[in-house]
Order: sequence, then structure tokens, then C-alpha cells
Amino acid sequence: MKVTSSEFIISAVRPEQYPEDGLPEVALAGRSNVGKSSLINRMINRKNLARTSSTPGKTQHLNYYRINDALYFVDFPGYGYAKVSKVQRQVWGKMIEEFLTVREPLKLVLLIIDLRHPPSKDDELMYDWLKHYDLPVCVVATKADKIPKSRWQKHIKIIKDALVMRAGDELIMFSSEAGIGKDQLWSLISRHIED
Ligand code: GTP
Ligand code: MG
Repeated sequence: MKVTSSEFIISAVRPEQYPEDGLPEVALAGRSNVGKSSLINRMINRKNLARTSSTPGKTQHLNYYRINDALYFVDFPGYGYAKVSKVQRQVWGKMIEEFLTVREPLKLVLLIIDLRHPPSKDDELMYDWLKHYDLPVCVVATKADKIPKSRWQKHIKIIKDALVMRAGDELIMFSSEAGIGKDQLWSLISRHIED
């Protein structure tokens, strides 16, 4: 997809704030600091439309970005960040769970994993949970620039095995830094939002 326009729409904390125009939505889930917001920026060729930070916990609400009047990216708060209070974690958990189970325009969830590290328990739970609700998932292994290409396969296998990835679910190698995987991810997204 050639991105000609991208726009921040809203930082939503309640379902009433979600857009009502019915455009297809692609959500990004993953650990705090894994690179969700950076991935959005790379996909739309913007340096900092989605706010990123080397400090975990930057994204705190469901942030909506409208792309080409064709779809929304929905950037989630990251999970697994120890400094987030228990109460805050429960609030986010409930907000994300509600979103994923009832959001009609949701067409695809990108589960973002750091290629360098084995998936966390939270990643495993998230993947199982998405499968349980029968949501279309694509695993995106990001920060691929940090691992030499000769070692990619080894890391991919670790991720696939830990998540017990189902046949048919795709895994895409990605780097927001180097631009790896961008075209492949766009074509996968295009397929899902056309369905
Ligand atoms: P939260 O909003 O806290 O959940 O974090 P996030 O998942 O949105 O992560 P963010 O995009 O803010 O990136 C976190 C850090 O990782 C930043 O310092 C980024 O520059 C860095 N980063 C993200 N993607 C990549 C990548 O592909 N390669 C490299 N080398 N660094 C990356
Ligand atoms: Mg973020």
C-alpha cells in the first residue's frame, strides 16, 4: 500500500470514543518497549506520529491512527512493564480484552515480539487468548536489525515453538530501524482488510 495520508485520531480510554465510521482496524499488541509505536511509524513513513520512547510504558491508551482513509492502526499499551501499578494493569487489561472481544471492525491483530528474546509468559498468554477468540493473528518479529541474518532461523524457531504457533498463522520478520518486512506486512494487512 502506498501511504498518502496518516493522521492521529484519538487516544481513547472508553469505547464511546472509538471511531464510528466502520473502517477496518489493525491492532498492535505486545510487551512494553518491544517497538509497536515504531512499527506504525515505519509503516507510514513518519518519524514520530506514533509517540515512541526508550522508556517503557509510553503508550497508555488505545491510540487510533487513520491511514489513507482506508484503515486504522490501533496502538495498544504494552504489557509486562513492572513499574505499572496493579490497578493500572487491570484497567488496561479490561480495556484491551473488551476491545478484542467486541470490536466489530477489527480485522487483524499484530502480535509484536522482539526477535532477540524468547517470548515471555505474557506473549504466550496473549497468543493463546487471541486464538481462543478466533481472531486473525500475525506474529511480527521486530528488531531484526539487531540479529545477523545467519541467526534469524534459529530465533524464528524459538518463537514459533514457544508460542506453539498454529499452522496457517504467519510470522513476519521486521525492523523499524532498517525497514525490513515493511512491504510484506503491508500486503498481509491489505489481504485482511479486503476480506
Ligand atoms: P510502549 O508504548 O511502552 O508499549 O512501547 P512500544 O512497544 O511502543 O515501543 P517503541 O516503539 O516506543 O520503541 C521502544 C524502543 O525500541 C525505542 O527506543 C525504539 O527506538 C526501539 N526500537 C523499536 N523498533 C526497533 C527496531 O526495529 N530496531 C531497533 N534497533 N530498535 C527499535
Ligand atoms: Mg508505544
